[in-house]
Amino acid sequence: MELVLITGHSSGLGLELTQMFLERDATVIGMSRRSINSKNPRLYQFHFDLSREGNWEDKLRESLPRQDWSRVLLFNCAGTISPTVPFGGMEGAQISRSIEVNVTAPMRLMNIVVTVYKEKTIRIVNVSSGAAKKPYLGWSVYCSSKAALAMASEVLAVEMEAAGRDVKVMSYSPGPLDTPMQAEIRKKKPEDFPQVERFIQLYNDGKLTAPRDAAADMILQIDRKDLPYFLEYTYQ
Ligand SMILES: NC(=O)c1ccc[n+]([C@@H]2O[C@H](COP(=O)([O-])OP(=O)(O)OC[C@H]3O[C@@H](n4cnc5c(N)ncnc54)[C@H](OP(=O)(O)O)[C@@H]3O)[C@@H](O)[C@H]2O)c1
Repeated sequence: MELVLITGHSSGLGLELTQMFLERDATVIGMSRRSINSKNPRLYQFHFDLSREGNWEDKLRESLPRQDWSRVLLFNCAGTISPTVPFGGMEGAQISRSIEVNVTAPMRLMNIVVTVYKEKTIRIVNVSSGAAKKPYLGWSVYCSSKAALAMASEVLAVEMEAAGRDVKVMSYSPGPLDTPMQAEIRKKKPEDFPQVERFIQLYNDGKLTAPRDAAADMILQIDRKDLPYFLEYTYQ
């Protein structure tokens, strides 16, 4: 049986992945501040605030089930778009909290998983964004955090290959998704985020991808037999 760890399982992409893996009879550990209404005995929910400097790490390490899993999968889906204001208008603490959720928490989780499940086949998906490669005015924290996570993914893959371990890592850009994060983007003020009109237009034109489609594609990619140690992939 597969063990699947999913951050941000309470909403959007992470929620779809959670439902799909439960349908596949996997055991799922979901980590978010909110929980979902599910009585599935194979879903274990942890109320973690991933912006809180790893306060959750010890609890997770001691709770991780050490069964004979066929594979262990980690999906780092939790993410925050805030703060979306240009330099000069941000609060320092907000920058740190966002970097903690978008970069540090996924790196802490990668570190935990490759330590606890040393002998196992492991697949890791870190959710990236076009913003990792393209500067958007007002999105310095989001753009730089996604770029940092993509590089951390690549370094982990190089390390695992050098160690001869069956651990493969994917940096996956789902493109614009029809999730609460996009709804939050559409509410931004044009003076803070001049591109807001483009995102409203994408929504009005029905150009946002359903999170279920992106989740299904992610699972397809991660199951590929020819998956390299590191794969950078964009939903199409
Ligand atoms: N939506 C898009 O257009 C788009 C495009 C490219 C990439 N992405 C990426 O896709 C991923 C999923 O985004 P989404 O669109 O599905 O967003 P979403 O619906 O807003 O979901 C975000 C998830 O992250 C969790 N989260 C946020 N802050 C957290 C915190 N401090 N501690 C724990 N969990 C936290 C939320 O859970 P709680 O609120 O319950 O804590 C929620 O489950 C993100 O990494 C995002 O950057 C999204």
